[in-house]
Order: sequence, then C-alpha cells, then structure tokens
Amino acid sequence: MRIVLLGAPGSGKGTQSQRLVERHGIPQVSTGDLLRAAVAKGTALGLRAKEAMSAGRLVADEIVLGMIRERLADPDTRGGFILDGFPRNLAQARALDAMLREVGQPLDAVVQMDVDYGELSRRISGRRTCSDCGRVVNLLTTPAEAERELCPKTGKPHRLFQRPDDNEATVAERLKVYEQQTRPLVDHYRDQGLLRTIHAEGPVPEVEQRLEAALAASRASAATRRD
Ligand code: AP5
Repeated sequence: MRIVLLGAPGSGKGTQSQRLVERHGIPQVSTGDLLRAAVAKGTALGLRAKEAMSAGRLVADEIVLGMIRERLADPDTRGGFILDGFPRNLAQARALDAMLREVGQPLDAVVQMDVDYGELSRRISGRRTCSDCGRVVNLLTTPAEAERELCPKTGKPHRLFQRPDDNEATVAERLKVYEQQTRPLVDHYRDQGLLRTIHAEGPVPEVEQRLEAALAASRASAATRRD
C-alpha cells in the first residue's frame, strides 16, 4: 500500500510507521529522519535545513521534494511505502500527486492521526531517542517501557537524548506551522476521497488497531473504485 500518515508533531506518526514496517514489510519514508541524517552529516543541504528545523519552520519545498523524488525511486518502495511527515503543505501534496500520477502509482490511503494538544505537548516533552539504535521512547507516557528495554545494538540500557527541536519555543512554532500549512491537507485528501481520521490517543497497540482498521477500509474502497 502507498500510505500517508498525517498528524501534528507528537501525534505518533513515527511510532505507528515503525509498526506498519514490521507488519507489512513496506518502508517508512520520513522526511524528518532524512533531514536529520543530512544535518548530522553536515552536507550543504543539511546546513540549509538545520536553520529552519531549529526554528520549527518548514524546510524549503525544493530541498524536501528533491529528497522524496530520490527516495521514491529506490527499488524497495516499489511494493508500497509509508510517508511520515510528508507532504506538509499544499505545494508538496500537489507535487506528490503529480509524481505518483507520472508512474501510475496513486496513493491508497491517507490517515489523519487526531490527538489533543495537551497530550501532544506531554508526548513531545517526554520523548527521547536512543543514540545507538534510534529507538524512540517516552519518559512520561510509557516510562516503564523506556526503563525496562535494553538497546538491541549494545545489549545495555538505551543511551537517550532529546531532539534539539523538542524545546518549548520550537514546539509552539511547529504546532502553529501545522495548523497553518499542514491542516489544509485534510480537505485536499478528503476531496480526493482518500482521507480517514482515527482517534490516536490511548495505548500504542490500541491506536495501531484503529490504524489497521482504517487501512483495511481504504483497501476495500480502493477495490470498489477499481471494479
Ligand atoms: P518531523 O521529524 O517530521 O517531526 P514532526 O512532524 O514534528 O513529528 P514528530 O516526529 O515530532 O512526531 P511523530 O508524530 O512522529 O510522533 P512520535 O511517533 O515520535 O519534522 C521535524 C522538522 O523537520 C520539522 O519541524 C521541519 O522543520 C522539518 N521537516 C520534516 N518534514 C518536512 C517536510 N515535509 N517539509 C518541510 N520541512 C520538513 O511520538 C511522539 C512521542 O509520543 C514518542 O516519545 C512516542 O514514544 C510517544 N507516543 C507515540 N504514540 C503514543 C501513544 N499512543 N501513547 C503515548 N505515547 C505515545
């Protein structure tokens, strides 16, 4: 399936994408991860992206679209993909529509993950990432899991760090940008008959079940459209 997960910062797009990867064997394409990798490498593109990311603004469309075009040309995306954090504004959504039309591989589902703003802030302030294996945990929402787990790479407790853009001022800006630039995509995809919305609060496995149910409903509608 070709899937877009749409949702505010902290809504659980990355968490649920990883579960979809494990269950369905299709890759997660996260523009946030691709950009953070470019920043870590110190490439010219990374340096340009870093400034916008630190301020909580969107990175220029031309940079993000170039990265997506390259990534979607990789052979592992032929059987489908999960777009996490892309598209982020109408220009990106229209460019993606055109890109997929060119290769005759339209989106199958767009799922909006709905989470209350208070819960988003709690999740973001408790989020930590393991610097060895990249696993994302949460010290506030799932503390027992964060403490219990060992890093699969080192066999020792995770070495956790906080993302530099997970500070109060940057998060406020990211939420504002989401409302102004990303939320309009809800109407864009509703008009295309692709949008499903799930309540994305509660235990991760429960959200996962709601997501799977939404994807199954999308598959059924796509089959009806084809018949
Ligand atoms: P990006 O990395 O995409 O960040 P984001 O959209 O702000 O999303 P997050 O990663 O914050 O949240 P998430 O929804 O993945 O939640 P997660 O699963 O981690 O983008 C970062 C920056 O890069 C942007 O600000 C921008 O500058 C730039 N950028 C990226 N894409 C771009 C684009 N297309 N165009 C332009 N610029 C772009 O969950 C959050 C926490 O909650 C975790 O700790 C998790 O363990 C926990 N959690 C998850 N689910 C649950 C649950 N059900 N219950 C309790 N806790 C939960």
